[in-house]
Amino acid sequence: MPSLSVFGAQWGDEGKGKIIDLLSDRVDVVVRYQGGANAGHTVVVDGVKWVLHLIPSGILHEGKVNVIATGVAIDPIKLLEEIDGLEERGVSVGPERLRIAANAHVIFEQHKRIDGLSERWKGDGRIGTTGRGIGPAYSDKASRTGLRICDLLDPARCAERLRANLAEKNAVIGKVHGEELLDVEAIVQRYVEIGARLAPFVADTGAELRRAHRDGRRILFEGAQGVMLDIDHGTYPFVTSSNTGPGGIPSGAGVPPHAVGRSIGIAKAYCTRVGEGPFPSEMFGDDADRLRAAGHEYGTTTGRPRRAGSFDAVAVRYCLDLAGAAGWIMTKLDVLSGLGDLKVVTGYRIDGEEFSEYPAHLPSLDGVELITETLPGWTEDAASARTFDALPDAARRYVERVEELVATPIVMVSVGAERDAVIDREPIFGADWPASAPTPEGALS
Ligand code: IMP
Repeated sequence: MPSLSVFGAQWGDEGKGKIIDLLSDRVDVVVRYQGGANAGHTVVVDGVKWVLHLIPSGILHEGKVNVIATGVAIDPIKLLEEIDGLEERGVSVGPERLRIAANAHVIFEQHKRIDGLSERWKGDGRIGTTGRGIGPAYSDKASRTGLRICDLLDPARCAERLRANLAEKNAVIGKVHGEELLDVEAIVQRYVEIGARLAPFVADTGAELRRAHRDGRRILFEGAQGVMLDIDHGTYPFVTSSNTGPGGIPSGAGVPPHAVGRSIGIAKAYCTRVGEGPFPSEMFGDDADRLRAAGHEYGTTTGRPRRAGSFDAVAVRYCLDLAGAAGWIMTKLDVLSGLGDLKVVTGYRIDGEEFSEYPAHLPSLDGVELITETLPGWTEDAASARTFDALPDAARRYVERVEELVATPIVMVSVGAERDAVIDREPIFGADWPASAPTPEGALS
């Protein structure tokens, strides 16, 4: 039965928030399955900007159920801030609209503190994390010392496990980093209170999603970050700590692999990256500044200026191939208007060997030489186009050439932040997807 996954096919910040918001009308359920509050999905509705870090963008659509599933590392403080912020702005976020996985791992104060200290410790080798505690929380999950949301709901269990976790973290904070220790009892008390507030939202979301899938409800899986930041398949070690592509859905959402359905990648008409690590098509100096300014390329979560560069067909082809994408959506094409001729990376040459897909088997991209092609730019406005033919000629040629290089159809082009600033090219939903919008049915259970 129908489900769709939307994922980032670059280094994150591809504009997924807007696209997911756009597609939410045609689905019943929107699911986050990995990452945490390191993500920042921006949605503009009627000129009003919304930024969501943990709650799926479907929350802005009445009648949709939104699930924060098992694979997400949940910072419950950020989550409550987000719930309160939405409620204050008139969006109702009751338990019938937001479901939180009982077995998702929790990000605590100690994870955020260690994230920062460990970056400092690494010095020049730092990752450039968002500082949201993502790596340390997933490390605890893998080392079996983490706490899950269900643990927060049981005060005695929460206190016991949290004290044990904090004892080890305080040893690291004090003895390794020489910093002030965290106040164990204050943290325990705070999170027990938070558990009580979250309790109504907590559910066996895996079971609910499997049932929803069996019942033919339409599910949209919302990826955060991008495949080049995938812990296994990205530019390791300069990656995040989860599986960011559709490959992460079965375990992250608790659904069988066949429930994932069709996957659609999202990539900008150029590239950006925040944090450290390889970024072969990076531009510097005035060219980078102009692109950054035109695209407002500053981190949604951290406010950091993003590194900016040309479209890298090698990286995008790899991400789409890995995900088995049926198509992809090119975002922010309008940003390239007036930036002159446009370079596109078509291949990498490393030690004399050419690669048309990102070479995931190499320890690093040191010494990479770029094989590029220069395409004519345009000065006319692309932002007002609502059909492919209405785009400036050179913009159309750019889209077509990039599509050819990446060898996967561009199903939609986005030319602005607003919901209607899109150009449809091919159907996004599969042939089995019902043509009509679903009738809002509310709760999953
Ligand atoms: P972490 O996920 O905070 O551990 O950061 C690891 C790397 O992923 C850093 O380079 C971050 O800048 C990057 N990163 C994490 N989340 C996002 C995102 O939502 N967009 C873009 N980059 C991200």
